[in-house]
Formats: sequence, structure tokens, C-alpha cells
Amino acid sequence: MIRISKLAGSIQPSATLAAGAKARQLRQSGVKVFDFSLGEPDFNTPKHICLAAEKAALAGQTHYTPAAGTAEVKAAIARWYKKTHGYEFGPENVIVSNGAKHSIHNALAATVGPEDEVIISSPYWVSYSDLVSMTGATPVVVATTPESGFKMSPKQLRSAITPRTRLVMINSPCNPTGTVYTRAELAALIDVILTTDAAVLSDEIYEQLTFGTATPTCVATLRPGLTNRTITISGASKSYAMTGWRMGWAVAPKDVVKAMDTIQSQETSCPSSVSQAALIAALDGPQECVAEMRAEFAARRELTVSRLRAIPGLKLPTPDGAFYAFFDVSGFFGKTFGDKIVTDSLTFCNVLLEQAHVNLVPGIAFGAEGFVRMSFATSREVIEAGLSQLQKWLAGGNEAQSVAHGSQGVVPETQGVALG
Ligand SMILES: Cc1ncc(COP(=O)(O)O)c(C=O)c1O
Repeated sequence: MIRISKLAGSIQPSATLAAGAKARQLRQSGVKVFDFSLGEPDFNTPKHICLAAEKAALAGQTHYTPAAGTAEVKAAIARWYKKTHGYEFGPENVIVSNGAKHSIHNALAATVGPEDEVIISSPYWVSYSDLVSMTGATPVVVATTPESGFKMSPKQLRSAITPRTRLVMINSPCNPTGTVYTRAELAALIDVILTTDAAVLSDEIYEQLTFGTATPTCVATLRPGLTNRTITISGASKSYAMTGWRMGWAVAPKDVVKAMDTIQSQETSCPSSVSQAALIAALDGPQECVAEMRAEFAARRELTVSRLRAIPGLKLPTPDGAFYAFFDVSGFFGKTFGDKIVTDSLTFCNVLLEQAHVNLVPGIAFGAEGFVRMSFATSREVIEAGLSQLQKWLAGGNEAQSVAHGSQGVVPETQGVALG
């Protein structure tokens, strides 16, 4: 028998991927599922990007590249930041990885370890706490509420910082809440960090997906000299509908990039050569495709928010970015639906999927019990039909009187769902 390592045993599989797999299973058995679980655009990658990859492959760009990415892709990333944020840096400050998740993993592996603390505000993206734990460092969670728009205050941040704090993670626009901090709010957080020795890891992967008057901020450019202690993470997955190409990057001080480069050279040798060619086309090419996808996400956001607010008992702040609605369902806890009782966000999602075939992700996976996440990266028809189904199902809930809480809520076959 082969023993499984302590590391593998200590981390949870991604809850969002697990939720998607459950829905797929149900669909394969012939059930029509309204799947709002996955965090990826439903659009295909724009054609000019695919053609650039094809051209690169046919031209022989099918070999290993430098571990941190080609000179050409680094230059394209640098051009994009200069044009978009006035942020200038050299090739020694950028590294391309197999998706932003990989960039975050390598950034953490390069900068923190046992004895260190990393501050994360909750609700947080499912992978943050596990990625931190994998390094041996301790995630320190600062809980935020809908009342503050799910924003961490400078006071909260100040009281979470200890002499062991090495990194503060910021994610604006945020997955799962859609929260977008204003420039002034981020500057106030940065000013707290600047009174300490901590550094910043700013995950800006949804920066091209903001709505209404919300605008994204490139955190590294907020204060003079901040680039020396900021790791900016981003990628092509969300803005260019390129999840499967696995293109993410980090912009960081030279020594951090060098350490990440060394780690990556031993882990994966390099990111995919053809995906790098595709990324250059995405960043340098026409940007109308991004505007079109953003406009469609904006319309779906309006539809989602208005339909959810029309459901008695549901409350939600308007998401200003990304493509998620994150809402409080705790008012339904303790109710029975058919022969099942809902006691928490996990049983809520399990029973909802089993009975109404609507798939949401439990808030507990994001460090926020009482809530659920709905992705609106799916068609308006699916949103309309799925939310009608949700509304109908919620109306059928009855006050549970004689059934003990927690006794029947969990659907047996989904009991092991991950809480990543
Ligand atoms: C906040 C956030 N960061 C990073 C990622 C990772 O994206 P990828 O690895 O596809 O580039 C995701 C994906 O869901 C995300 O939501």
C-alpha cells in the first residue's frame, strides 16, 4: 500500500470544481440541471486568439520555452500594463505560469513558509486558504459582512497584522462577492500595510470585468515605491474566455520573480508554448471582444440581481465586478424541503440540487457560512429558468418542527463535497 502524504491529506479539493462535477454527474443521468457553480465564461475564446495559437504551432513554436515565458509574451504583458495602468517594468519583473492559480501557488511558495502568516479577507476565493496552507504558512482570515459591502476596513486589517504577517492578499474585483474596492479604499489599506514589513499579493484577475461606475485599480501603482513590495497576479482566463489555455502571470520585484522562476523550472519546465502565443494575441489584439463579453455579463448581472431580489427572504448586495452573486440564505435554515431539512449552506446546496436541479456553491467553501454563490456566467435563458426554479423551490419550504437539525439534510451521495 502506498501511504498518502501529510500535504495531500491536509488540503481539500476545489469546492467549485466539485460542485461542477456533481452537476455533470446528474446531467449524465439525463436530468436537466441549472448549473450556476462554475467560475468560467461560457463564451469560446475569440477566433483571432485561436488563430494565433494555430499559426504558432504550425510555425514550429512547439518546443520548451524559457521557464518564465518567452521574451515576446513578457513584452506583451509589459505593454499591456503600461497602456492600461501606466505601470512600467522590465522582463525581469514578470513570469508567466499555467494559470493564475499556478502563479499564486508559486508566489506563495517563493515568499512564505512555516511561522509566517498570510492575511485573507473572507468571503475569499476557495483556493486561497489551501494554497497558503500548502506552504506551511497560516492563513489569517478577516471576516467581512454584506453591510460593509464585503470590504475589509483599515481597522480590521490593522488588528489582524502581527509580527509574523508576511503577506496581505487582496482580490478586487472579488470572487465570490463581486466586491470592487474604490481606489481610496485600497489606498487606505495600503497605508496600513506600509507601516509594517508585510507585502501585498493583489489578485486582479477580474480587473476587466467591472460594471456600472466601478473601476478596477492596479494596487501596485497606488503609492510610490509600492511596486517593490507588491506581487500582482492576473491572467487571461476570465477576460478573454481562455480558462483552458492556462495562462496566468505575476508581476513582482526581481528577486521574487527569480525565485518563482526557479520553482517553476523544477515544477513544469515552462508554460505551454502555443498558449503563450495566444496570450500575446489576446493582449495586443483587438479588445472589442472583451467589451462585448463584459456587456453581456452586465446584462446578466442586472437580470440575476433583479430576479434574486424578487424572491422573498433573499438579500444581496449588487456585485460590481466579476460574474457572481453572493447572497444570504440563512433565513431558510431550519426549514424542511420535502423530506429533507436544510441546516447550513452545504445542505441547502445539496438539497436544492437534488430536488430542484439548481446548482449553487455553498458559502462555507468561501469561508462564509450562511451564504451561497451563484455564477451568472451562463445564458440569460438558463438564468431565467433556473431562478424561477429556485424561487418555486424556496416557496415550498416549511418550518421544521419535529425533525432534529442536521439529521436528514445531507444528500448521501454528495456527502463528501469539498469545502476548499
Ligand atoms: C479570484 C481568482 N483568482 C485566480 C483564479 C485562477 O484562474 P486561472 O488559474 O484560471 O488563471 C480564479 C479562478 O476562478 C479566481 O476566481
